Amino acid sequence: MGKVVVIDHPLIQHKLTYIRDENTGSKEFRELVEEVSMLMAYEVTRDFPLQETEINTPVGPAKTKVIAGRKVGLVPILRAGLGMVNGMLKLIPAAKVGHVGLYRDPETLKPVEYYCKLPTDLPERDLIVIDPMLATGGSAVAAIGFLKERGAKSIKLVCLIAAPEGISAVQSAHPDVDIFAGAVDSHLNDHGYIVPGLGDAGDRLFGTK
Ligand code: PRP
Ligand code: URA
Repeated sequence: MGKVVVIDHPLIQHKLTYIRDENTGSKEFRELVEEVSMLMAYEVTRDFPLQETEINTPVGPAKTKVIAGRKVGLVPILRAGLGMVNGMLKLIPAAKVGHVGLYRDPETLKPVEYYCKLPTDLPERDLIVIDPMLATGGSAVAAIGFLKERGAKSIKLVCLIAAPEGISAVQSAHPDVDIFAGAVDSHLNDHGYIVPGLGDAGDRLFGTK
């Protein structure tokens, strides 16, 4: 079973409060989502292996460490996942970015695919699927499924806020995938929204419904 890591760093918890606040406008919301995503990238990459290298400092030779040639792929689930890309890229600038376009049908709550563009060397990459909200889990389960169909072998899922229902759905469909979240909230309401959550992440990021 994949692990669930709730990243309870004070900076993340503080910023999440303002992300959740209904009085926070789109500009500040976008900035905060970017900042929290950057902080989450720090934790998500904690298990990247290091290798020794030799350099010269101005004072003399030094044996130091660099990340051991990891090829990373970020995969935002469109559209709200886009809000997390730049923050993650600040810490993982060499990552390639693939896109999976899914929207949740408001009646059935089932994900509908409308776009998919991924790095060609998917099987060699450590993939980080990003989406602010893990609600029923339908979108994340489908996106991870697309990646696996195309040969992906190493996948992590990163979200700002998860519902217990979404975590269970991902764990049962994809037990090999670790989930990183800023918070795990109480439950879903009748419309499939996370309670208390933050509302509709895509609408708040982009100001459109
Ligand atoms: C939101 C969110 C997730 C999905 C989560 O996207 O960004 O992708 O819902 O819900 P689920 O876990 O029940 O599938 P939405 O479908 O609203 O599309 P958008 O990003 O274009 O706004
Ligand atoms: N998608 C969102 O944007 N918010 C939720 O609470 C659930 C799904």
